[in-house]
Amino acid sequence: MNIAVFASGNGSNLQALIDAEAKGDLAGGRILLVVCDKPAAFALERAGKAGIKTFVLEAKDFKSREDYDARIVRRLKEENIELVVLAGFMRILSAPFLEEYEGRVLNVHPALLPSFKGVHGIKDAFEYGVKVTGVTVHFVNNELDGGPVILQSCVRIEPDDTRETLEEKIHAEEHRLYPEAVRFFVQGKLKVEGRKVRILN
Ligand code: GAR
Repeated sequence: MNIAVFASGNGSNLQALIDAEAKGDLAGGRILLVVCDKPAAFALERAGKAGIKTFVLEAKDFKSREDYDARIVRRLKEENIELVVLAGFMRILSAPFLEEYEGRVLNVHPALLPSFKGVHGIKDAFEYGVKVTGVTVHFVNNELDGGPVILQSCVRIEPDDTRETLEEKIHAEEHRLYPEAVRFFVQGKLKVEGRKVRILN
């Protein structure tokens, strides 16, 4: 299955997926393309090092979100992309994009959804003072961070944790959970029933 990973920054989740593919842990899923909205993103270096093609588009070069997304869709089609994996891609995808790839867009979020939606999931959970937070992998739909949940994993916040140590724990958990979810998708094991995702054996 041909996969495109979308990233905006460090790309540590992209790296985890690249490493998983190299170990044969994506069940034949192949990362063919990295899409990025930031020319300076470290994710692009990681892609280059792994020999993966990159497609960089800056929002400022497009009139609207729909135009931007339509350009990406064109490229995804050229590459016969079958699964879109958002890995720290800090843009909201438009309705036409999501229609085109309905049920084939995954995202990782650094909190236990539906708590702490948005772009500061780790900081918001830390500042709120919760004792348990975690990681969510979910399907993407038109509601922000609101699609059906595929996998979740808990991370405890201990009294001596700082935001930095919590970030490290969350990222480590993401790097474990995301490749697993992608593998399930590639294996055709994810069955969406309304809001629920059943994982077939
Ligand atoms: C990850 O922690 C991911 O969960 C988060 O951005 C980070 C990207 O890190 N995504 C969101 O907050 C989406 N709302 P990475 O570039 O090192 O993979």
